[in-house]
Amino acid sequence: MSMVDDIKKKAQSKLMTIVLPEGDEPRTVQAAKIIKDEGLAKPVLLGNKEAVLNQAKETGTDITGIEIIDPLTSNKAKEYAGQLYELRKAKGVTEEDAAKLVQDVMYYGIMMVKTGDADGLVSGAVHTTGDMLRPALQIIKTKPGIKVVSSSFLMDCPNKNLGHNGLLVYADCVVMPNPTADELAEIGISAADTAKRLCGIDEPKVAFLSFSTKGSAKHELVTKVQQAVAKAHELAPDLCLDGEMQFDAALVPEIGASKAKGSPVAGHANVLIFPDLQAGNIGYKITQRIGGAECFAVLQGLAKPCNDLSRGCSVDDIVNTVAFTAVQAQ
Ligand SMILES: CC(C)(COP(=O)(O)OP(=O)(O)OC[C@H]1O[C@@H](n2cnc3c(N)ncnc32)[C@H](O)[C@@H]1OP(=O)(O)O)[C@@H](O)C(=O)NCCC(=O)NCCS
Repeated sequence: MSMVDDIKKKAQSKLMTIVLPEGDEPRTVQAAKIIKDEGLAKPVLLGNKEAVLNQAKETGTDITGIEIIDPLTSNKAKEYAGQLYELRKAKGVTEEDAAKLVQDVMYYGIMMVKTGDADGLVSGAVHTTGDMLRPALQIIKTKPGIKVVSSSFLMDCPNKNLGHNGLLVYADCVVMPNPTADELAEIGISAADTAKRLCGIDEPKVAFLSFSTKGSAKHELVTKVQQAVAKAHELAPDLCLDGEMQFDAALVPEIGASKAKGSPVAGHANVLIFPDLQAGNIGYKITQRIGGAECFAVLQGLAKPCNDLSRGCSVDDIVNTVAFTAVQAQ
């Protein structure tokens, strides 16, 4: 069974409510119908009702039975504005600002998740990563004990000898441009949790990547990764993690054995932590485009799940991301 099929099966086992703020966007409307029909989640579409229904008509999609909420006319908007004001007044948000903000589909959707009216949110077919991330970071905030929100890419590689039957978890490829050593340590711990919860990797083996393996090069960039490894050991003593190591030492058993002798991770890593966003973002795209891997992005560390799509996403990408989000919410 593929990773996506496995996730869909899990999503169907407990129906979660997932809000789609881009309700008047054609791919989102079509995805909502599939999500409902396959029982992956209860989708809620946000937007002007007429605009949503028009998209349904134009795409030949029957969305009977799918809830549509217009933030401009919703009777919950006042309540959400009050709560948003309380949450953000210390940051200078006035009551008027809050009332205006919740008219925006993204803030309205985030408030639905914050208040428990929805279990998770998926957007990004139209909005940028930052458009969704900023309100999510401001309002939903991080899980208890976690300071940093980051992302994991679940890479399903054609070479099934790699990682966990071809599955590799890459982090962080979306959020933190230049994490400190402490932040990098947290990214590694969150990615291991994602690997367990979403990929069925019961024993994550976490490699902190660098251009150096076990001190083979000396540079402040290498020192940062070494410090992250030490911090991660301190924060999660039972987690199987190691570094710093090069990509080949992490994945190829013979190279791992020669460059990082005795390492419990080298040569067998299934979770790869990149030192910064440039490396992570480039790395996942190389694996996808040249390596032929299928990939799915999830955000990790938020108190409740919100996930981002690429603006070039397909209907299937939206359906799959909703399934991942539902499983995160369960
Ligand atoms: C994540 C991101 C949107 C934050 O935006 P920002 O404008 O820097 O946001 P701010 O610094 O004003 O922070 C907003 C709030 O989020 C919090 N925050 C920012 N990054 C955070 C993180 N990674 N984890 C937890 N909280 C975070 C801040 O503490 C702040 O909280 P507060 O308002 O309650 O004090 C920004 O880091 C970003 O654009 N990252 C790259 C995203 C991207 O373009 N990726 C491309 C690959 S697809």
